[in-house]
Amino acid sequence: MGGPAGVAAIVVAGGRGERFGAPKQFTELAGVPLVERAVADARAACARVVVALPDAAGWTGGSDVAVVAGGVTRSASVRAGLDAVPADTEIVVVHDAARPLAGTALFEAVIDAVRAGADGAVPAVPVADTLKRVDGDAVVETVPRDGLVAVQTPQAFRAEVLRAAHAEGRDATDDAALVEADGGRVVVVPGDRRNVKITDPSDLAVAEALLSGSVS
Ligand code: CTP
Ligand code: MG
Repeated sequence: MGGPAGVAAIVVAGGRGERFGAPKQFTELAGVPLVERAVADARAACARVVVALPDAAGWTGGSDVAVVAGGVTRSASVRAGLDAVPADTEIVVVHDAARPLAGTALFEAVIDAVRAGADGAVPAVPVADTLKRVDGDAVVETVPRDGLVAVQTPQAFRAEVLRAAHAEGRDATDDAALVEADGGRVVVVPGDRRNVKITDPSDLAVAEALLSGSVS
């Protein structure tokens, strides 16, 4: 493990990949499974790595990685991971296995922001598309884009704040939302447009192009 003592990562890889059409975390990007790539970044930036996997997953992660069974929701998988994070951990970084191109610099940026005093830190990029609220196929309104950002993982938190946010078993699409709901101070750091999330198969083609350097 390359990262500083007191910093642990939870890589959530317990999903079913319904939109992708298969458990995408085991799909290979240039010969390396997505989960392996996410774990490699976490391993380089953190002292301890816990991976939440679907039940009976074949991937074992290597002897330096703790494996736990994921839950029914993403938040439940984070909670399963938290149970395996050592009690003396100061900062926990949560990362999606579906983001194979995060890189260690993003981990370091969110960890540094928490060390500097935030309860949580998330990478964010400006929203490029125009956003509209719809009801079926009817446009209800155009949402002003000012001040809106798209948020990625890895997300870092003071460990006790993250544990408290998960104590009641709530679900959210990211961990920062739970910390925000508790009144925690979450800050953004510059995200990376290359840090794509693999949701459907076309995203894998984008990641392959980014990795091969054919686009940047
Ligand atoms: N995840 C998890 N446990 C769950 C659901 C999701 O650990 N019960 C993980 C996924 O493996 C993924 C990350 O959370 O790395 C983000 O979730 P998402 O992109 O939605 O992946 P899936 O839930 O697998 O995909 P889908 O929603 O299309 O089924
Ligand atoms: Mg999902």
